[in-house]
Amino acid sequence: MRIIVVPDKEAMGKRAADLVQAEMEKHANPVIGLATGSTPLPLYQELVRRHKEEGLDFSTTITFNLDEYVGLTPDHDQSYRYFMDQNLFNHLNIVKKNTHVPDGLAEDIEAFCEEYESMIDDCGGIDMQVLGIGSNGHIGFNEPGSSLGSLTRIKTLTDETINDNARFFDKREDVPTLAITMGIGTILHARKCILLASGANKAAAIKAACEGPVTAMCPASILQIHRYETLIVTEDAATELTIRVER
Ligand code: PGA
Repeated sequence: MRIIVVPDKEAMGKRAADLVQAEMEKHANPVIGLATGSTPLPLYQELVRRHKEEGLDFSTTITFNLDEYVGLTPDHDQSYRYFMDQNLFNHLNIVKKNTHVPDGLAEDIEAFCEEYESMIDDCGGIDMQVLGIGSNGHIGFNEPGSSLGSLTRIKTLTDETINDNARFFDKREDVPTLAITMGIGTILHARKCILLASGANKAAAIKAACEGPVTAMCPASILQIHRYETLIVTEDAATELTIRVER
């Protein structure tokens, strides 16, 4: 595990953008896995800046998002499709049909999840997966207790995740309780993973992910066995780490 500690969110976004850009430049059709939430926003702002100011080209890039709430329409302002369009895709020269977000309205969710895995395989697998981490150690919506070998499927959100995400909705009851998420096995299949974390509320989860045992109770800890895993963590999220880190 490579752990890079940076002073603030902006630096985190730039370091992550350097890695994503380098990966994009290695492939004719780069396949990048993306995440939602507040954490990756500085990365997306930096990618948009590099596209607009430096001509970073997304015309052949393919993306797969980790997860989506069940039951929200793509134009609902809290759906992850809407989030990705607003914060990234609408500002790039990416081909919309090459951007994949799980379909939270799929009638046959199980069939859709299988199809999502097939679509990833048909594109040759994910070259680089961007991840955030929940305060409970989740990656995607793989909540504590998730099977470490799981593939894309439907999950029930924990109370902790619903509480964390309630800030984005008018009221807590509006937060969906189900989501479609890539599995932990899906994430492990990505050739490279980069996990971003910022804020003191992530310090305990980062400690458990990096220094705790590999356990389904902290899904991010499985990244300890990934062949290429880079963490980019702000100072305040790294306060509980005792192992040597890069700055
Ligand atoms: P956040 O969410 O980036 O909004 O903190 C991260 C996550 O829940 O994976």
